[in-house]
Amino acid sequence: MTQLTDQKTASLSAIAAADSLDALEQERLAALGKKGWVSLALKTLGQMSPEERKDAAPAIQAVRAEVAGAIDAKKAALEAAELEAQLASETIDLTLPGPHTAQGSIHPVSQVMDELAEIFADLGFAVATGPEIEDDWHNFTALNMDESHPARAMHDTFYFPDAAAGSQDGTTGGTRMLLRTHTSPVQIRSMKAQGAPIRIIAPGRVYRSDSDATHTPMFHQVEGLVVDKGIHLGHLKWTLETFFKAFFEREDIVLRLRPSYFPFTEPSVEVDVGYSNEGNRRVVGGHGDDDGHDWMELGGSGMVNARVLEMAGLDPNEYQGFAFGLGIDRIAMLKYGMNDLRAFFDGDPRWLKHYGFSPYDQPTLSAGVGSQGRAAS
Ligand code: DAH
Repeated sequence: MTQLTDQKTASLSAIAAADSLDALEQERLAALGKKGWVSLALKTLGQMSPEERKDAAPAIQAVRAEVAGAIDAKKAALEAAELEAQLASETIDLTLPGPHTAQGSIHPVSQVMDELAEIFADLGFAVATGPEIEDDWHNFTALNMDESHPARAMHDTFYFPDAAAGSQDGTTGGTRMLLRTHTSPVQIRSMKAQGAPIRIIAPGRVYRSDSDATHTPMFHQVEGLVVDKGIHLGHLKWTLETFFKAFFEREDIVLRLRPSYFPFTEPSVEVDVGYSNEGNRRVVGGHGDDDGHDWMELGGSGMVNARVLEMAGLDPNEYQGFAFGLGIDRIAMLKYGMNDLRAFFDGDPRWLKHYGFSPYDQPTLSAGVGSQGRAAS
């Protein structure tokens, strides 16, 4: 019995000293496990006389209960301490400022391209694309500007240094490669690829060696092309007017079509839109009288030249078409009130924050193409 008391004392102090759940489990096995000293003591009961057993059994059971109770209590204490430590290490200090996450915005040019696609899709146009690295034939020759055409000189073309001047599609002779100077070569590519009838717009980047407040070496155009039977200038005028009314979201748009010349259209017209200066802002349309209004040239257009239809593989006796090319950056400036084109491409985060759009501001005809306001500011 004294031996049992000694073992109990030793065991209780070991339990008290256990500093982890593992250490405590070792003590439990040593005492209450199959070969633990309590279990061994219980086994001795079998060899005892009934008299001896009467006293010994309750004593051993009491020791067992005391050791088991101490283990349970210690286990609860260790688990609580472990949880405390875990909670302390995982604390989030809600008073700290939020992490700085970069906030992007949709560039006005991208936004306007989405607006264009939305409006023209509603008019039954598909969006077409072509390469920015273009060959001489698609950029010039097929658009009725052969090698010697003076209009070529006006384009301030970026040529690639290698390869000789190109000819038909590059199939004969060398193909001079260049950065496309306008989106018009997409007309040729689209007609060749899908024939007629056709109704496409082609927005994209174009390049010219030119730079001042209203010109940058890279800028954006949108090309439009409709080819079908019986197409005439009236279709062109209606289409442009309908587009600009939807784009500027006002009915009082005043368009001026001026006779002009482009090698790839005949007749050709230049498209101007009337605007007035209200305060410091250019406001499109809405000027009944002459005071303080002016015209801004937005692009060119006309009936597709018969030679261009032929070069693109269509029969001009069967099909007619109209085409237009508008400066996207210019119409963006007019709509959203910027005055320096160069700032479009500076990448200044302050400018982008002010003029950029929220990704949630998707242009739709029902909710308004881009009038929901800017992302920031
Ligand atoms: N490609 C011309 C330019 O960049 C613009 C243009 C004029 C496009 C008349 C056309 C058009 O489709 O019909 O200056």
